[in-house]
Amino acid sequence: MPEVENAQNVIALLKSLRAVRQFRPDPVPQEVVDAVLDVARWSGSASNQQSWEFVVIHNQETLRALAALEGFAAHLAGAALGIVVVMAGDQGQVEQETFDEGRVSERMMLAAAAYGVGSSIGWFKGRGRAAVKQMLGIPRTEILRFAQDDTPESAAFDAHIVLVELYCSLTR
Ligand SMILES: Cc1cc2nc3c(=O)[nH]c(=O)nc-3n(C[C@H](O)[C@H](O)[C@H](O)COP(=O)(O)O)c2cc1C
Repeated sequence: MPEVENAQNVIALLKSLRAVRQFRPDPVPQEVVDAVLDVARWSGSASNQQSWEFVVIHNQETLRALAALEGFAAHLAGAALGIVVVMAGDQGQVEQETFDEGRVSERMMLAAAAYGVGSSIGWFKGRGRAAVKQMLGIPRTEILRFAQDDTPESAAFDAHIVLVELYCSLTR
């Protein structure tokens, strides 16, 4: 039965997801980045708020500088690419944003894994939180909203990325 085989493949992918912190030097194909971001914007969120924004970082100097900030994202230094997840930081929506942040992060990791691309969450803390916002020019308010009326598209390839979770956004 093809459905069962398909289900088994999906479940195998879900079970196989691990944090990957050592990376090959290959660049991440744009098709993979596009697919990961497309999955992110199709993720559900509390009250459909989509209180997130994604900063894609290719620049190796920036990645190394981010890796050196206070937190748990040292693996960024060896990554070909990082995606910073920025939440809106609405103090009245902390629980919802926290849940949504984890949900969208996991989906992005799974989308990457579907292409054989390893990733890991990396958390900034303490002074690293303000530093990363300053470094990337992340504003205090105003986040982008993705339209949800597009058709999802996908593409394929194989490389490695890091998913950076910018939890600090909740304390803006
Ligand atoms: C909410 C959350 C936050 C995490 N933060 C970090 C982090 O800051 N740095 C890091 O290297 N890994 C981080 N991880 C990855 C965990 O360390 C990893 O998932 C855990 O050790 C289990 O390993 P596995 O995912 O390979 O099974 C985080 C994972 C979760 C779920």
